[in-house]
Amino acid sequence: MSWERSEMSGEWTGHFLMKIHALGLKESDFEKLMANSLADPVVEYNYFMYKVCGIAGLQTNLPFGTTFPLGTKYADAIDIAVYPTVVKLAVDMYDKLWADRVTGCLVEFGVAAGSWLAMQLDNMERCGMIRETWGFDSFEGLPSPDDHRDAPGWYSGQFANELADVAATLDLGSRPHLHLVPGWFSDSLRTPQAQAIKSIAYAKIDGDLYESAVDCLAFLKGRLSNGAVLMFDEWTHVLHQGETRAFFEWVPRVPEYRFELVGFINYRIFFRVWHVSVPDLKCEMA
Ligand SMILES: C[S@@+](CC[C@H](N)C(=O)[O-])C[C@H]1O[C@@H](n2cnc3c(N)ncnc32)[C@H](O)[C@@H]1O
Repeated sequence: MSWERSEMSGEWTGHFLMKIHALGLKESDFEKLMANSLADPVVEYNYFMYKVCGIAGLQTNLPFGTTFPLGTKYADAIDIAVYPTVVKLAVDMYDKLWADRVTGCLVEFGVAAGSWLAMQLDNMERCGMIRETWGFDSFEGLPSPDDHRDAPGWYSGQFANELADVAATLDLGSRPHLHLVPGWFSDSLRTPQAQAIKSIAYAKIDGDLYESAVDCLAFLKGRLSNGAVLMFDEWTHVLHQGETRAFFEWVPRVPEYRFELVGFINYRIFFRVWHVSVPDLKCEMA
């Protein structure tokens, strides 16, 4: 199954139709969508964003707020410059969860050296807002990327870190609320330890690759609390690749959730997840 334009097979169309029905759309919308998407993939992406989050016109088909490609000097400088703002938003989202009394733990899928977890832990401890915190990682780096479903540039073993070093950085021994679980998501999320996690307030998906995000999202079904934060660290802003692809494939499988877009900063995106069965609440971060 592929979303690639070069592979517009019957299977692809059938898959798309299933999505259209799952999202409660009409086939006349599908015709329009097909026509639009053939002409302009941005329209296709925005259409799905509109149907899932109620907001369109989100992006300019750039994964980054500049025309300079990632990995070049101006783009890297922008990335570094916005990082403190991303951290501010991430911490504010945690504080908001606490204020809204959203139940559950914090989970990061893809820990690497632990810098993100260190920041979240420091914030929660400084403010006395401690929750159980889980970090899942192979600690062997990324698995092999998929040529079609992942953006170019990733490689197997990227971001490998020794578990012992990460445990030392995060001061695991003196943090009883912190749990690091080594292994591939496809295995570690099936262990009794992971399966015992019943309620998640804050989930950060940072495994970079499509297949990794698929495993994490499958795990999140039935576990995200009403009002939970769902963050993707490697949002591709296109439907056919990476974490974005995994998310839009997952949405029809979780009709019990409604997604509110909090906002994105370059390739990091934040949603609040609301239970359809619970009356409306809104998150205002502006
Ligand atoms: C970009 S790094 C995470 C960075 C970290 N969250 C931070 O902000 O400091 C991605 C991590 O995801 C892990 N990862 C990716 N796919 C995985 C999988 N399928 N199973 C286990 N770990 C995976 C890699 O080992 C790597 O450490």
